[in-house]
Amino acid sequence: MTRTVYVNGKYLPENEATVSIFDRGFLFADGVYEVTSVLDGKLIDFDGHAKRLARSLGELGMRNPIETEDLLEVHRELVRANNIIEGLIYLQITRGAAADRDFTYPSDDTPPTLVLFTQNKPGLADSPMAKVGIKVISIEDQRWARRDIKTVQLLYPSMGKMMAKAAGCDDAWMVEDGAVTEGTSNNAYIVKGGKIITRHLSNDILHGITRAAVLRFAREAQMEVEERAFTVAEAQDADEAFFTSASAFVMPVVELDGAAIGTGAPGPVATRLREIYLDESRKVAI
Ligand code: PDD
Repeated sequence: MTRTVYVNGKYLPENEATVSIFDRGFLFADGVYEVTSVLDGKLIDFDGHAKRLARSLGELGMRNPIETEDLLEVHRELVRANNIIEGLIYLQITRGAAADRDFTYPSDDTPPTLVLFTQNKPGLADSPMAKVGIKVISIEDQRWARRDIKTVQLLYPSMGKMMAKAAGCDDAWMVEDGAVTEGTSNNAYIVKGGKIITRHLSNDILHGITRAAVLRFAREAQMEVEERAFTVAEAQDADEAFFTSASAFVMPVVELDGAAIGTGAPGPVATRLREIYLDESRKVAI
């Protein structure tokens, strides 16, 4: 089926949607993005994603081409037009197309490029992977130092996923100065003695929207949370591990660099948090 996508104010069939070859997203990875999940045909955590988008744009001095209310309307129209019950909405804003390739930013009257498209993912919430857990490897974190900005420069995370695949695993956790920063496209957690441990917020990691919700739900359920860095050895010795993202929700991790974590099966804390996250998020989806 041909999707309906959104480009700069227009809803178009995907094969008619175009962006300039001079677009700075294409030439310089000069763009930011958001991924919002859809469950029951409704948006999960739209406000959180819209706020982080505004922050990413602000940190890069990029103009926001759309009001939040209108952005919500575009999300909803794409869900409707593409009949998405479970899936994802991808949004990207770039600094637009300058007249030529030039490292310096174009003048303020250059319109930013705004693109949104849907990804249909039936069965997203009932993922078979969540029942068996996933295997990760650790790799050096070789990304730039402003990982708190959600930019489209995702080559190293792509390389990380390929390294994991070559090792017969599903994903990679990145390590800097001996401590895990985050997964290639998710935030990383371990559980030890009932305590949930995840890296504190800084420029070193993306401030996950799912992370914020999961930590809030965990605290509300009287679970103990500690926000600090942890090592690979600590993770291998943990009772459980998991990661969070808008596309995977709460995903148990059962192996790290070939060592089974806990029993080698999804643990009770990750399993419970996944249930709570899905239940509570569905209740307030818009
Ligand atoms: N990735 N850390 C990184 C590096 C990420 O790319 C992501 C999200 C997260 C989790 O953030 P959130 O909970 O807001 O989705 C953490 C998205 C899903 C992606 O690139 O597809």
